Amino acid sequence: MLEADDFETAKLAMVSFNKEHDIGKQYLVDHLYNHVRSANKIIVGGGWTGVLANKLQIRYKCHVLNLDSDQRWIDLGCKIFPNVQFKCQNNWEFDGKCDIWASTSCEHYDRHELVFEMQKRKGTVFALQSNNWYGWPTHINCSDSLADFIEYLPLNNIYYTGEHPIYREKYKRFTVIGS
Ligand SMILES: C[S@@+](CC[C@H](N)C(=O)[O-])C[C@H]1O[C@@H](n2cnc3c(N)ncnc32)[C@H](O)[C@@H]1O
Repeated sequence: MLEADDFETAKLAMVSFNKEHDIGKQYLVDHLYNHVRSANKIIVGGGWTGVLANKLQIRYKCHVLNLDSDQRWIDLGCKIFPNVQFKCQNNWEFDGKCDIWASTSCEHYDRHELVFEMQKRKGTVFALQSNNWYGWPTHINCSDSLADFIEYLPLNNIYYTGEHPIYREKYKRFTVIGS
């Protein structure tokens, strides 16, 4: 758990539960559910404290695994969302199968690693979000536009694409769902 004086971690954790993030993740779950009605196993990559994983578990009532490479978020998330399985692991080193692979952290990933993972998981449904917020140090893979995001994703069937404004319309969050 957190050290009592670890305010930075506490502040970051609070951000993961804020309204903006809640809305963005609900948007992904709602659009995904319009196209995919059932799943047995869902993996959430770079799932942070598990807000998306929890929403997916409630909607699909199935086994949802939240992967994150940062132990702090795993320790917190598993206390808050006992309905979700949490595992501290790099997404790209986890080979377990799933019906849906979801992530709202695409702006944080090495693009080639994400594309390789998608190619490895051919036939899986992907529910993904990225953004055009270039200014944050760990945002190494932003996209200029929704078209730019779609372009690099190796999907054969696209079920949904959309965008919505974030941070008082300063940036945009892009959503792509497909297989
Ligand atoms: C800041 S958070 C989430 C940001 C995202 N916009 C959102 O709202 O969900 C990004 C998370 O991705 C995790 N992450 C980044 N690369 C990862 C990887 N290769 N495997 C697992 N987790 C990863 C980080 O540890 C971090 O918790």
